[in-house]
Amino acid sequence: MKEIKTIGVLTSGGDAPGMNAAIRAVVRTAHYYGLNVKGILKGYKGLLEKNAIDMPLRSVSGTLQSGGTILHSARCAEFREDAGVERAKQNCIEMGIDGLVVIGGDGSFRGARDLSLKGIPCIGIPGTIDNDIPCTDYTIGFDTAVNTVVEIVDKLRDTSQSHNRCSIVEVMGNACGDIALHAALGCGAEAVMIAEVPHDLEKDVLVKMDEAMRKGKTHFIIIVSEGVTGERAKDRKMDAFQLARYIEEKTGVETRATVIGYIQRGGKPSAKDRYVGSMMGNYAVKLLKNGIGNRVVVMRDNKIMDFDIMEALNMTRTPDLELLRTINEIS
Ligand code: F6P
Repeated sequence: MKEIKTIGVLTSGGDAPGMNAAIRAVVRTAHYYGLNVKGILKGYKGLLEKNAIDMPLRSVSGTLQSGGTILHSARCAEFREDAGVERAKQNCIEMGIDGLVVIGGDGSFRGARDLSLKGIPCIGIPGTIDNDIPCTDYTIGFDTAVNTVVEIVDKLRDTSQSHNRCSIVEVMGNACGDIALHAALGCGAEAVMIAEVPHDLEKDVLVKMDEAMRKGKTHFIIIVSEGVTGERAKDRKMDAFQLARYIEEKTGVETRATVIGYIQRGGKPSAKDRYVGSMMGNYAVKLLKNGIGNRVVVMRDNKIMDFDIMEALNMTRTPDLELLRTINEIS
């Protein structure tokens, strides 16, 4: 492997709080070891356009506490084609980039794998609010997003309680129900629905509400993952607003729907996201510096480690059924 003198770093896919902590750690660690850093703007799209900036030590000052990504992000269809990856490789060579850190979701890791196969060593860092990457227990941004959802649902509960209403709350997560599950536990939701586990509206929601009403409950919070009611849901039967109407018809409880949307992708990163982002960014540079490429940095059992990128992409994810059971027992 060629000696690494200059590292490139980019963020790709949906932004996530804590990405800046990872970028900052990449820049600071690289300079600590005497390496140069180039920040590629707008993800793989920027790599195809040679849209890069030099990142001296001070370029990341004051960024640890800010949400979003200072490098901007994009989804890039062209990078899925071999011609796009080949051009990116040539651009890396022309810009003097010897190794690349890619912060993003598993779509971004596929790009990192393809570029690695062309000879540019890449390290993936999992950055997405969805927590949907099978090889890691945790993805940067998840904790902040869950905290945002919990804060919003606390507010919704005030108004639901005042009006004796039921609130349907749709959260993000793409096909993954982790935001829904963690938020449901954190805000004491009466029911939760995720796409990975088949649900029975009658049994899981209507009967539950009926039983709770008999015991004196007058308001309800139901968290639904966008994989169930969102516009990209695979097998959507109803959107959140139709679901609200359905529940109102069946139970007689006035019901309103709230789709939280992009608010849950923004905001100051939590301490956990700053911690994980910083640790993973630092780890990624050390891999490249030691001549190791084609890996994904992961968190397993609270330890930062790395995995082969191909192996990581072949893993599958299972939903946390234990957590779902716990929510059902507590609600
Ligand atoms: O991956 C993060 C995420 O916010 C998902 O939760 C959501 O499904 C998707 O991105 C939205 O993507 P876009 O920003 O392209 O609309």
